Amino acid sequence: MAKVMLKGVTKKFGNVVAVRNESLEINDGEFLVLLGPSGCGKTTTLRLIAGLEEPTEGEIYIGDKLVNNIPPKDRDIAMVFQNYALYPHMNVYQNISFGLRLRKLPKEEINQGVKKAAEMLGIGELLQRKPKELSGGQKQRVALARAVVRNPKVYLMDEPLSNLDAKLRVQTRGELIKLHKRLGVTTVYVTHDQVEAMTLGDRVVVMNEGEVQQEGRPKEVFDNPVNRFVASFVGTPPMNFVNVKIVEKNKNMYAVSEGFELKIVDAHRDILAKKGYIGKNMIMGIRPKDLFSEVEVKKDEKMAMQPFKVLIDFVELMGSETFIHFRLGDDNVKFVARASSDHDYAMGDTVLLYIDPFHIHLFDEESSKAVI
Ligand SMILES: Nc1ncnc2c1ncn2[C@@H]1O[C@H](COP(=O)(O)OP(=O)(O)O)[C@@H](O)[C@H]1O
Ligand SMILES: [Mg+2]
Repeated sequence: MAKVMLKGVTKKFGNVVAVRNESLEINDGEFLVLLGPSGCGKTTTLRLIAGLEEPTEGEIYIGDKLVNNIPPKDRDIAMVFQNYALYPHMNVYQNISFGLRLRKLPKEEINQGVKKAAEMLGIGELLQRKPKELSGGQKQRVALARAVVRNPKVYLMDEPLSNLDAKLRVQTRGELIKLHKRLGVTTVYVTHDQVEAMTLGDRVVVMNEGEVQQEGRPKEVFDNPVNRFVASFVGTPPMNFVNVKIVEKNKNMYAVSEGFELKIVDAHRDILAKKGYIGKNMIMGIRPKDLFSEVEVKKDEKMAMQPFKVLIDFVELMGSETFIHFRLGDDNVKFVARASSDHDYAMGDTVLLYIDPFHIHLFDEESSKAVI
């Protein structure tokens, strides 16, 4: 086990900056999730840690050791590649045991290790098959088993569940959490799936366009996104956004858009005034969970909330909840509210929704940074 550290790491491929000035500290035994859209530099970050790419600038440490000049095989990491990278001419047993055989472990020890890993991942029946005789999900589990069977300082996992079907993904996610609890090996796990990131990570690092945007516990990132990108990337359905102007009227402050206005609560009003946002345009963000249909708001909660009438565009029945799609204000901005499915909603209905004004987000129009 070891901690992993990146200090000011940049990686360029010709003119493309895949990773820019990235600094990360992954604690000994931590499960860190790198989250971001396709092309944001997640795989490159893992390959840099593994030693498969050389940084253009910056330093990489594993344990207390600077590893910039240490070849991959001497870094004691196990990587699960996005495209599995199984050896096609070897069967599943040989693939899983490859690293152990290379290190000339006793045969009995190899046997037991392979058996345990294969059982854990539900591929015990497939040990004699060649990769071409496996489905995508099975290949992915072989790749995981090949990493699990080793006892490295660090696991690097590149979207290892992306090819599993929904049920198997949830199941394997559970297995990974248990495995990590048991072995406590430092793990860097890459995904573009924010649900996976939220459920797996001790800590999440959100990336975009090669740069770290925010790091924190999943709940911190969800509750207090530092900018509009993180706010929109984390959470389903995504946060709603509307352009507003901050105005003062009769000693109160409002966020005003075409045909819609929201009274700003005192705590937010003071911050906006102090930071000079009166009269300025901002972007307001409201999570679907902070919009409530009238039937769901208790009487004593109504006092603190603000009602507004909407015409339902369409509804999505999700099972235990219903997403209500509507347009906000005269600019027809698309919005989604999340309601319980205990009540029926239908396209064309007019409903009264309540906004919880304490939980709104306000972003600077130019920098997109969160102010509230
Ligand atoms: N070997 C390479 N040569 C040129 N460009 C690359 C190479 N590897 C990655 N890139 C570019 O670097 C950026 C980040 O890629 P990558 O780390 O694979 O993103 P992610 O894993 O987040 O989808 C992308 O723009 C990608 O096209
Ligand atoms: Mg990738």
